[in-house]
Amino acid sequence: MYSLPKQGHGWPWIESKLNAFREGDIRWQEGRLPYFVWCTDEAILDIQSRAYHLYHVENGLGSKRAFPSLDRMETDIIGMCLSLLGGGPGSDGTLTSGGTESNFLALKTARSWARVHRPHVTRPNIVAPSSIHASAVKAAEYLNLELRKIPFDDEFRSDVAAMAAAIDDQTILLFGSAPQFPTGVFDRIGELAALAQKMDLWLHVDACVGGMLSPFARRLGHHIPDFELSVPGVRSLSADLHKYGYAGKGASVLLLADGADLEHQRFSYEWGSGTYTTDTFLGTRPGGAVAAAWAVMHYLGEAGYLERAKMVLDTVSALASGIDAIPGLRRVKPHDLCILLYGSAEPRLDINVVAEEMGQKGWYVGRTREPFEGIQLAINPEHQRVMPQYLSDLAASVEQARSTRRTAEFDKSTY
Ligand SMILES: Cc1ncc(COP(=O)(O)O)c(C=O)c1O
Repeated sequence: MYSLPKQGHGWPWIESKLNAFREGDIRWQEGRLPYFVWCTDEAILDIQSRAYHLYHVENGLGSKRAFPSLDRMETDIIGMCLSLLGGGPGSDGTLTSGGTESNFLALKTARSWARVHRPHVTRPNIVAPSSIHASAVKAAEYLNLELRKIPFDDEFRSDVAAMAAAIDDQTILLFGSAPQFPTGVFDRIGELAALAQKMDLWLHVDACVGGMLSPFARRLGHHIPDFELSVPGVRSLSADLHKYGYAGKGASVLLLADGADLEHQRFSYEWGSGTYTTDTFLGTRPGGAVAAAWAVMHYLGEAGYLERAKMVLDTVSALASGIDAIPGLRRVKPHDLCILLYGSAEPRLDINVVAEEMGQKGWYVGRTREPFEGIQLAINPEHQRVMPQYLSDLAASVEQARSTRRTAEFDKSTY
């Protein structure tokens, strides 16, 4: 068992160790990751780390009295997000540690809301397309909410009629994604919102991936289905700042169409040490993540986000055309935003072998098995640089997989 050193070490020893540890990691600097790292631009990373460093000691738990500067930055961040994502008078939001926490809080808030407004509900359930992100499945499990997963339709989008049929008097929430992580398509948020209004249900939109990209994609002329808080019936929306907001890790928002719902999100407890009140799951929160998010949003501004959105969308469309030009592959079409998913269109071409070949060539390959066995990737702006290499490696991998006629199992290894 590894144990504490008897005597401490100085920074040179520690630094050399840390650098040695990293040697076996994927070279994210080279753009070979399909997710996990959403920004490799050195200037942005520098802003992130300077701001993070400045605030790395401060604690968000004390943002009301000890560190009001954190509270101020959080208010600014929420304001910027609400103005991008359809917030109206009375809407509000909270900064969280990531998409998992945002989705968790959405489900928890809906559950607490239902306890007040749907008191007959004793065994609450939620209805979602089967593409619901794993983080929300985890939240449902933690919160003891029954999850009714409904197969998506033939465009891989939420099948709203089938979801409606799954609702009963114990249902409290409908779930939709903008876009879904596995396929990259948007669920039918407008129709889900109308259904939620009709049935008096909570609708949560998981825009963790798309939230900080879609508003800029729309301004660039791309068709983005309505998914924001301004759609009547949408009650909460999660959007990750540490994805297409290019903030440092540990930053997402949960936005509420009606800020009064915060009372269902908030935890407050009178105890020996006074009043403990938090709007998030975490207690101690890294001040650095707040400062880094605030800093990057001000560094980029609208112009910077537009420029990066254009890089993403241009790369996605070039990659999509390149994949379509490789015989033997099929792709989820249309791709709505920034995620591509493709698989094999030929019985004698095993996509798992293609994935292994790509892995051999140094790419970290994202895999799916639903709706089909395939390769999935979320494009970030810096992928523009490596896209030609990706396509030529993919063409070679397909050729190798076809010529060897090898087959391989779906790789179930954990993240
Ligand atoms: C649609 C969606 N929701 C939620 C999450 C969870 O986000 P995080 O990993 O930041 O907790 C992800 C992560 O990829 C996602 O794609």
